[in-house]
Amino acid sequence: MPTTATAHTNIAFIKYWGKKDARLNLPTTSSLSLTLSQFYTTTTVTQNTDKDQLVLNGELADPTRIHHFLNTIRDILGDFPAVTVTSENHVPTSAGLASSASSFAALTGAVTREMGFDLSNQSLSRLARRGSGSASRSFYSHFAIWHAGMDDASSFAESLNAPDMPIALVVAEVSTSAKKVSSSDGMQRAITSPNYDDWLNRSATQFMDMQSAIQQSDIEKIGTLAEENALAMHALNLTARHKPFTYFTQETQQILALVSDLRRQGILAFATMDAGPNVKIITTLNDAPKIVTALHSALPYIHLETATSGSGITYD
Ligand code: DP6
Repeated sequence: MPTTATAHTNIAFIKYWGKKDARLNLPTTSSLSLTLSQFYTTTTVTQNTDKDQLVLNGELADPTRIHHFLNTIRDILGDFPAVTVTSENHVPTSAGLASSASSFAALTGAVTREMGFDLSNQSLSRLARRGSGSASRSFYSHFAIWHAGMDDASSFAESLNAPDMPIALVVAEVSTSAKKVSSSDGMQRAITSPNYDDWLNRSATQFMDMQSAIQQSDIEKIGTLAEENALAMHALNLTARHKPFTYFTQETQQILALVSDLRRQGILAFATMDAGPNVKIITTLNDAPKIVTALHSALPYIHLETATSGSGITYD
């Protein structure tokens, strides 16, 4: 019997940007994210008698990364047969969101169930972490935290049990022809910045402050902290001693300037960015349409999506 799992993507408000152990995928900092309703991956795992295979959005794809990840799970939980992984990404490429978080979370949930393991979300988060760090946070609805930890057992994610609040995220897709720097590569470069230790210290304080802001449903404070954390992360990329780089494009900078203008007009808008040029604007359900209108009139060709808080992993 095949097993199907659905996991939503998440956006970090306090970022993971550096590994202290690349093999175990232990991060240098704890991170905190919001799971998004609109973007998700549905993955079905079927046992086969041949070799691990990947069918992505209806087409055979290179299984190297998932094969390596499945072997890690086999080493940890015990051997199991080859599988066919059939995955549908409802993370429109036009939205420019990374899908590795939802993909590795859905795969971890589906394959462990298919092989008869009944694991808690905490245990699943530790396994998914080995595939892609941000996937550890995609098992939970609403806000999740990933504790950096000291070792494999202590580096896991859990729900923040946050109150409901009218938070929304406007995703602005910025097209780019620039060669992409993967998250793993970007982090390796960023940790060579002379400002990296400062960033670690600030991140620890922001992580605590963010949790208080969330418990108080203070979206303005949440946005302020998230923007500070993200912009400092991107400054590390520019100041890396080894191969400095940036994900910013001219349009990224235009949108960032617009976000601060909107704020001056009294609209609640704060920017966060990940390993790419797209800007995600943290706002309220009430202000989201105003941001969409402003962005649309300034940059009419840019694709916009509005997301809200999403659910944790589910199984069919
Ligand atoms: C900027 O989880 O993609 O989105 O563990 O190397 O697969 P790997 O990295 P990944 O990195 C995500 C980085 C980020 C910030 C975040 O999601 O916390």
